[in-house]
Amino acid sequence: MFKLKINRNAPCWCGSEIKYKSCHMAFDDKIARFKREGVIVPSHDIIKTPEQIEGIRKAGKLNTMVLDKVAEVIKEGMSTLEIDTLVHDLIVENGGVPACLGYQGFPKSCCTSINDVICHGIPSEDEILKDGDIINVDVTTILDGYYADASRMFMIGNVKEEDRKLVEVTKECLELGVKAVKPWGRLGDIGYVIDKHATEHGYQVVADIGGHGTGVEFHEDPYVCHIGEEGTGMLLVPGMVFTIEPMINMGEEDFYTDEENGWTVRTEDGKPSAQWEYTLVVTETGIEILTY
Ligand code: MF3
Ligand code: CO
Ligand code: CO
Repeated sequence: MFKLKINRNAPCWCGSEIKYKSCHMAFDDKIARFKREGVIVPSHDIIKTPEQIEGIRKAGKLNTMVLDKVAEVIKEGMSTLEIDTLVHDLIVENGGVPACLGYQGFPKSCCTSINDVICHGIPSEDEILKDGDIINVDVTTILDGYYADASRMFMIGNVKEEDRKLVEVTKECLELGVKAVKPWGRLGDIGYVIDKHATEHGYQVVADIGGHGTGVEFHEDPYVCHIGEEGTGMLLVPGMVFTIEPMINMGEEDFYTDEENGWTVRTEDGKPSAQWEYTLVVTETGIEILTY
């Protein structure tokens, strides 16, 4: 049988211009050992090269700047369309492309999800932010072909204590998920800590909508589930770039998608939901967060 092997003396696939044997050969061997033990391992095409990571880092900086600007101006009385226009213009003025615009037919440049909307809310001039609302703004920027994705919650005026708590605990879920990411750890470690924290507060994790690999395309492998078991799921290796973006419901997990627009996802029970999202890269020693 013929087996294709990368030449040990050829330049490494990562673009380093160093010989494969002194660059990623030991890394590939290590992944192969896990695979022989039956572990699901990432394919080469979702492991980013240093050059790709630098591109995603730059897209992430622009994305963070855009969300910082949203944070500065968002207030009661504003329409979600105004937020969308700000997001669109800032990204475009800085040489980027809003990834959401036209994505599978999505009509706007970001998602604005208020109260019982879990995700994929469509900005509209008829939707006016009011005192007590909690809103998620989800922005994804493409810069020089590289994608970076993040979302934050904003609280408008006087927010009820129980809603405030949901927003805070959801942020803690994200931070705990990030802390659970270790090179040569497992994907299930992330969902495990997120679900544990949410459940301890009496909340429900939305398990059927999750995070995702990103960077070269909007949504890549793996699917990052926000529930899970420790020590299970795909092997996490340096160079993997993905989002963690827990959606946490105050009430039941059940949701439905708006039949008219095909996008807006709401809680079945009408109770609020919160979400925070970062894009991160797994490094040799830990992680680097690429979008805030
Ligand atoms: N930014 C979202 C995510 O976190 C995806 C939005 S897709 C859109 O994956 F089409 F609704 F914009
Ligand atoms: Co997003
Ligand atoms: Co995302």
